[in-house]
Amino acid sequence: MKKAFVKSYGCQMNAYDAGRMSDLLASQGYAATESVEEADVVVLNTCHIREKAADKVYSELGRLRVLKTARAEAGLDTRIVVAGCVAQAEGKEILARAPSVDVVVGPQNYHRLPDLLTRSASTRVVDTEFPVEDKFDHLPIRRTAAVSSFLTVQEGCDKFCAFCVVPYTRGAEVSRSVEAILDEARKLVRGGARELTLIGQNVNAYHGAGADGVPVTLPALMRALESIPGLLRLRYTTSHPNDMADDLVRAHGEIAALMPYLHLPVQSGSTRVLQAMNRKHTGDEYRRLIERVRRVRPDIALSSDFIVGFPGETDVEFDETMRLVAEIGFASAYSFKYSPRPGTPAAEREDAVPEAVKSERLAALQALLDDQRHAFNASAVGHVVEVLVEKAGRHPGQVAGKTPHLLPVQFDAPAATIGTVVPVRVVRAGSNSLFGEAVTDEAAAA
Ligand code: 5AD
Ligand code: SF4
Repeated sequence: MKKAFVKSYGCQMNAYDAGRMSDLLASQGYAATESVEEADVVVLNTCHIREKAADKVYSELGRLRVLKTARAEAGLDTRIVVAGCVAQAEGKEILARAPSVDVVVGPQNYHRLPDLLTRSASTRVVDTEFPVEDKFDHLPIRRTAAVSSFLTVQEGCDKFCAFCVVPYTRGAEVSRSVEAILDEARKLVRGGARELTLIGQNVNAYHGAGADGVPVTLPALMRALESIPGLLRLRYTTSHPNDMADDLVRAHGEIAALMPYLHLPVQSGSTRVLQAMNRKHTGDEYRRLIERVRRVRPDIALSSDFIVGFPGETDVEFDETMRLVAEIGFASAYSFKYSPRPGTPAAEREDAVPEAVKSERLAALQALLDDQRHAFNASAVGHVVEVLVEKAGRHPGQVAGKTPHLLPVQFDAPAATIGTVVPVRVVRAGSNSLFGEAVTDEAAAA
């Protein structure tokens, strides 16, 4: 049997796409393998968001070239596929820079992978034109699904933040229809999913067609999903503050399946920098929005993305980011040094912040965010939390799952609990995970 090795970089949507590509290859007779040495097809599902992410692809392709030659000497054929956002952004350039690559395929075209692989027997192929057909109509769905699964509901972005490549690599905002999403959700739940994270580059701008063809909003979609028997939890990511409509804020207090967790990137606490980033909101508008969310869901855990060292950012402006973080308090966060991306407006600017200053600011911000994360994790100790069990734990007899606040928990319980929600008393907070004890009926009654 032929084997396929699929490796994904970057965001959750890339992880989702990689899963769909594995399913597609499985339907063509390729067994999934974790070992690149034995793969007949190697797919790198790449990320273009920052320079570091994009650079990784070329170093990986260098290693793959050696592997391909060694396999060829042993009489084995190896096809190398570059998929994802680097493929979309760099297209043909990849063929020129990496002679071992056979197929370059964009994020909207990967449903054509079987055909592209066939064509690659005689010529190297690039497929990055946005297709007229919808890839989702041409992809198989696997019969088994992870307890916590991703589901793409929206793709692309029309916001054009000055630093970001997404509007160019993923294209304009497109929402899938409610019917298509419900159909996929039901299949995932039948396959074992109990939690669905609705994903999109701008998922709170969701406006897919409802049953009567009229566009509906994200809360309406979540209400339809909530009624699927067996589906216990819903989450969504990632969002833009300006698309947090009133009905979505209210949904956090009304939809029982929607977990008390919100990832809402702010990028900076300085209104001047936010304006230069083309974010179209101020620091105070973000603060007020968070207040509104906390009013309807006081226990909500907040998460965000931050960029330090955007061109022209002063010390005082960076301090405003620190102040915003200190005031709001985040349960988790991602923070990055600004990285100029070709083709974006910010990359043209000549007032770059020196690398050393960026590093200093990133260290200060991450120290503050780490403190907040540790304090948040520690605040769970002593409490009973509802854990959705996802898989076997690190040690025999242990299982691992997540709290409503998305904190990983390890505890002793039989594997039969996988896919169920178990009350667990948290006894200790480690650096990456909580540790606890299942609360039995007797213990709860005591
Ligand atoms: N440089 C640094 N970080 C970036 N991000 C997006 N583009 C860049 C860039 N050019 C970050 C933003 C975004 C997250 C997914 O990646 O914080 O929210
Ligand atoms: Fe990029 Fe997000 Fe801004 Fe869209 S809203 S341009 S995906 S950072």
